[in-house]
Amino acid sequence: MILYPHFDINSQGHLTIGGLDTVELAREFGTPVNILDENYIRAQMRLYIRCAKQSFGEAALPLFASKALCCAEIYRIAADEGMGIDCVSPGELYIASRTGFPSERIYFHGNNKTDRDIEQALDMGVGTFVVDNAEELQALSNASLARGMRARILLRITPGIDPHTHKAISTGGVDSKFGSAIHTGQAAQIVKAALDAPGVDLQGFHCHIGSQIFDAQPFVDAAAMMVKFMAEMISTHGIRLPELNLGGGLGVRYTKDQPELDIEGTMQTFADKVRALCTSHGIPMPRVILEPGRSLVAAAGVTLYSVGSVKEIPGFKNYVSVDGGMADNPRYALYQSPYTALIANKADLPADFCATLAGRCCESGDLLGEGMMLQRPVRGDVLAMLVTGAYQHSMASNYNKLLRPPLVMVKDGQARVVVRRETFEDLMALDVEDPVYSR
Ligand code: LLP
Repeated sequence: MILYPHFDINSQGHLTIGGLDTVELAREFGTPVNILDENYIRAQMRLYIRCAKQSFGEAALPLFASKALCCAEIYRIAADEGMGIDCVSPGELYIASRTGFPSERIYFHGNNKTDRDIEQALDMGVGTFVVDNAEELQALSNASLARGMRARILLRITPGIDPHTHKAISTGGVDSKFGSAIHTGQAAQIVKAALDAPGVDLQGFHCHIGSQIFDAQPFVDAAAMMVKFMAEMISTHGIRLPELNLGGGLGVRYTKDQPELDIEGTMQTFADKVRALCTSHGIPMPRVILEPGRSLVAAAGVTLYSVGSVKEIPGFKNYVSVDGGMADNPRYALYQSPYTALIANKADLPADFCATLAGRCCESGDLLGEGMMLQRPVRGDVLAMLVTGAYQHSMASNYNKLLRPPLVMVKDGQARVVVRRETFEDLMALDVEDPVYSR
């Protein structure tokens, strides 16, 4: 086993995922390719649902934060497993709707929903809007009133908690672009505005403090702020607030020095704290919603590349270049995210070659990792990056007009393509053949 039980090494010394040989998968589907273990994703979804209900009560619902991995098949899987989903854009809503995802289990997020987004979501019958700001609140209230209805909403609140993660993925601070802060009094103001807006039905609050968090304390601190705020609003306005969405953000093990979080234990401890907080503030335990993204899908993935050049610069560093890079995975370039990589066709050999893993974009910042210990690579080897199921496919671009890799799912010894590889024709699909100026 390497990091997770579904990654292993077979008798040929090749890396396997879900029992399938990655070197054969690379041969069959080409490189670069993203492979996902479907059984792992389904097991994580079941685990979250079971633990949420066990610890917070039957009404609890985990939503898959679909920004982590968005494609039609993942929505079908999430629907099949009984998850809700968090969508952040009209594009995510569109794909979810095309797959027939039950609209009442969709929570529509985003800090700047346009009027058109709001209309689209109302047309779809989206279950809950997570309202970010005062302008959105008014626009949504007007749009739903015009349809003679009231939209079910949660208000996004910033609890003012620093989760000690990378600043680009930290969202719960007072100065965040998301939501309304408790500390500045703006959260209380937007609650008042929501209660006065005739086209919305305020059901409770939402917070999300950040991503890739290993320490339970920031979650508990945020919950404490949220429960206290809920109690204040309930007593000030004499209202019911039945729902509390505590966001996502659980950390995932990318390298052997990171821990693997015990989801069941963490959730139970967390639920006990939330229950105690509600009791001490004298409010009933709300229906708790959770929004995991990364911890459902990240570890399901491996990305396979082909090694091109191995450039040793004596006294400096060794570049190993692969046929992908920041276009299919911008996470190292953006956040210096650590990964585990290995040479899939030599996985049983010692990893004694220190590599700077480079992509093929025309940019020196196009790296996938630095100081990575690999088996000594040569051109044609298959390089595997582990734990690439979250925020990789969904963040990929066509920079340098590189083709986005396919997504292949494996399950019970079989493999199927769920998103095909892009083609050169796809790259030109949006170009207008003979553009003319109309005036
Ligand atoms: N809920 C909300 C409102 C969020 O903004 C996010 C993530 C989640 C839930 C899910 O968080 P998770 O359980 O996946 O940590 N691109 C970055 C991560 C950005 C996270 C954005 N929000 C990365 O590649 O690390």
